Amino acid sequence: MQAISGPVKPTLASTKRSSASLLLATSARHHGFEDLHVEGQLPSDLCGTLYRNGPGLFEVGGVPYAHPFEADGAITALRLQGGRASGAHQILETPELARERAANRHLHGLNRAWHKRLWGSYFGTQKNTANTSTFFHQGELYALMEGGRPTRVDQNTLARLGESSLEGALGSTFSAHPHAVPARKTTYNFGVTYGRRSTLTVYAMPEAEQAYVLTRVTLEHGVMLHDFIATEKHLVWFVSPAKLSVARFAVGLADFNRLFQWDAAAGTEVIVIPIDDPAAVRRFRVPAFFQWHFANAFERGSELVIDYMHFDDFSVFRTLGHDALVPGKFQRAIVTERDLRIESRSALPCEFPQVHPAFHAREARVTWAALQDAAGGIVRFDEHGERTFRFDTASRVSEAVVVPKASGASEDDVYLIALVLDDRTQKSFFAVWDGPTFERGPVTKAWFDHASPITFHGTWVSA
Ligand SMILES: [Fe+2]
Repeated sequence: MQAISGPVKPTLASTKRSSASLLLATSARHHGFEDLHVEGQLPSDLCGTLYRNGPGLFEVGGVPYAHPFEADGAITALRLQGGRASGAHQILETPELARERAANRHLHGLNRAWHKRLWGSYFGTQKNTANTSTFFHQGELYALMEGGRPTRVDQNTLARLGESSLEGALGSTFSAHPHAVPARKTTYNFGVTYGRRSTLTVYAMPEAEQAYVLTRVTLEHGVMLHDFIATEKHLVWFVSPAKLSVARFAVGLADFNRLFQWDAAAGTEVIVIPIDDPAAVRRFRVPAFFQWHFANAFERGSELVIDYMHFDDFSVFRTLGHDALVPGKFQRAIVTERDLRIESRSALPCEFPQVHPAFHAREARVTWAALQDAAGGIVRFDEHGERTFRFDTASRVSEAVVVPKASGASEDDVYLIALVLDDRTQKSFFAVWDGPTFERGPVTKAWFDHASPITFHGTWVSA
C-alpha cells in the first residue's frame, strides 16, 4: 500500500444544508478527472475506474424538475491508477438538455403544458436523461435509464457519445438493471413499452456476440418495473401492482408522484421465464409487495431462491421525491411451481444489495448493502446474520460496488467502494473498504472538494 496526498482538502462548508437536500441538489462544480485528496492508503492491487450514475442536474432556467427521476444524469467516477486517485463529476449533455439550456426553460418532462407533453409522448420525443445506472459491455461504457436506450459514454472524458441500439437489437427501452449469468457468458435485461398492450421485451447479450431478443411477454397493465433477477436457468420478475395511468400521464392530470397507482388487491404477479425454453413462461399472483432491487438468485432443486429488498407497498416512490434514500428490508423469496413464500433475513434499514460478481445467478453466501440508518454505513449479510460498519458522523452512503481481488476466489476477497456524502463537511468522498476487515472502516477515503448528488448504481472497470 502507498500513501497519497492530492491537492484538494475537505473543509467545512460555510452554509450548512441537510445532506438529504444535498443529495438532490446540483453540484457546485462539474469537472473531468482531477486529483482527489486521499486519506489513508490506496490498495496497490486495486487499479481501474468506478463509474457511478444518478440524477445530477435538478433544474433548468431556475425551475426545478418535477421529480428527481426527471433530472439529467451525471457520471461520478473514481480512477485508481499509477498510485493516484482521481475523480470526475460530469453531466451527460443530451441534445434535449442543450435545447433546454438555450431556451432557458423546460421543454420536456412534467413541468410542460399538457398538450406539449401529449405531443412528446405521441411522437417519442421524451428526453433520455440516462440518469440511473452504468453498464459495461463489449468494451463500451453505457449510462442507462429505463425509459430509453443505452447512452454511450466516453470512458475518459465522460462525454455523452449518443444512444445505442446495440447494433439494432434493442427496442425503445432498456432497464437500468442488466444481470450477468457468468455460467452462460451472457447478460440479460428487459425493456417495458407502454400502450394498449404493454409489453415486456427480454434481451440476451452474449459476451462476444450480437445481442438479440430472447422473448416478449404481454403485461396485464402498464406497471413500474425496475429490476428482475436471473438464476442459471430462469429469469424472474416480481410485477408489483404499481399501475401506470397512461391517460393521466399524457394529458397531465397527475404529477410524477401520482403517475402510478397502487392496486394492492391485484397482488404481485410472479413471471418466471426458462432461459432455454422462453415460451414456457410461468405466471401467478401472490399478495402484493414492492421491490426496487434484487441481490441475487439461485436454483435449489425445484425452487428458485431469490434475495431482494422488500417494501410492503409503493409509498417509497412518493418519499423519493424529497428524500433520496429510502431503505427496504433484506428478505428471501422462495419461488415454487405456483407459489412464493417470504423469509425475513434482516430488520436493518438498507438498500442497493450486491454480491461478488463471480457468484451472480448461483448461490452466494455473502450479500453487501448500503446501511441507511442515522449514521450510515455498509452491512454484510451471511447465513450467520449481519455485520456492520457505521461512520462516526452522519453520512449518506451509496450502493457499495463489490470489486473482486485478483489474488482470491472467496466471497470475502473483495474491496467495497461507495460514494459517501459526509454531513459534517458537506463534501463527498469515495470510501474503499477491504472485505475481510471492513468493520474497522475504509482503508481509503478519496475526497472531492464539493458535495456530489445521489448516485444510484455503478460499475467497476478494471484497468
Ligand atoms: Fe435501481
